[in-house]
Amino acid sequence: MGFPINRMRRLRSNETLRKMVRETKLSIEDFIYPLFIVYGKDKKIPVKSMPGIFQLSVDRLKDEILEIDSLGIPAVLLFGIPEKKDSIGSSAYDENGEVQNATRLIKDTCPDLMVVTDVCMCEYTDHGHCGVVEADGRVNNDATLELLAREALSHVRAGADIIAPSDMMDGRIGYIRNCLDENAFQNVPIMSYAAKYSSAFYGPFRDAAESAPQFGDRKTYQMDAANIEEALREVSLDIEEGADIVMVKPALAYLDVIKAVKEQFHYPTAAYNVSGEYSMIKAAAACGWLDEEAVMLEALTSIKRAGADIILTYFAKECARLLAK
Ligand code: PBG
Repeated sequence: MGFPINRMRRLRSNETLRKMVRETKLSIEDFIYPLFIVYGKDKKIPVKSMPGIFQLSVDRLKDEILEIDSLGIPAVLLFGIPEKKDSIGSSAYDENGEVQNATRLIKDTCPDLMVVTDVCMCEYTDHGHCGVVEADGRVNNDATLELLAREALSHVRAGADIIAPSDMMDGRIGYIRNCLDENAFQNVPIMSYAAKYSSAFYGPFRDAAESAPQFGDRKTYQMDAANIEEALREVSLDIEEGADIVMVKPALAYLDVIKAVKEQFHYPTAAYNVSGEYSMIKAAAACGWLDEEAVMLEALTSIKRAGADIILTYFAKECARLLAK
């Protein structure tokens, strides 16, 4: 008898103690910050649906990179917005494409800042799909693999440290791995978007990257939100094919998937806190409905608590500033 009613509350009695027994600690090293590199000169264009996020041309990138580096954020993820799109996304593997040029500039400016590049066709195709589209409107999986491998190789040749294929074609990890190995890039890791759901949370990103599909949707290659066993099969295949880091995307509506992936595979696991998850918090905060800082910290902590080792987030800079205090 006589159990004190504050049995659990003793450890919550003051801030110092709460910090000492905290199980999950966010750290700046957890973050990868996405950047949108747009063609042309002297551009810093705000993305309307993502307050605080800009499309930047390569010549305006340097200050941004110095800031990211000085905050201690270890890596950036690059997306390109090319001037010309065509049916096979040829600017994706242009040696002088936006991502390739940005990669060279970043490695010259801050050699220790890791450059991760998104490998996909949707930003480069005029139809906005992630691969080669057939006459019947379907994406041809195998024809797309060759293009993805060319894109990945051109990123690595420009100096990319990690390749992140986000297209969800079957067999792409093995195909890209072979291509990199054959070209003596055995040491470049692949972070695969292994469990990527067909999600409405990507809405604002498609503004930012100008990559909305012009017809149809991505449901034939991205996963159904209702499935988790399928996610584990996807992750298992990507690991077999050579993925070094596996990603779950989006993050907040899929915390159970992050946890299952981490517990089942014990692999370095990344989670993408996607555009819609960012914009919801920004919008509610702008209305005065939520405390932005507190909600950001709570959301990012939940992603880490679920099992993510790496968090890709548009909040990286804001959160890094807060954690550095
Ligand atoms: C595809 C890609 C997408 C995102 C990252 N890579 C969009 C899509 O699949 O439609 C979304 C990221 C976000 O919403 O922040 N290249």
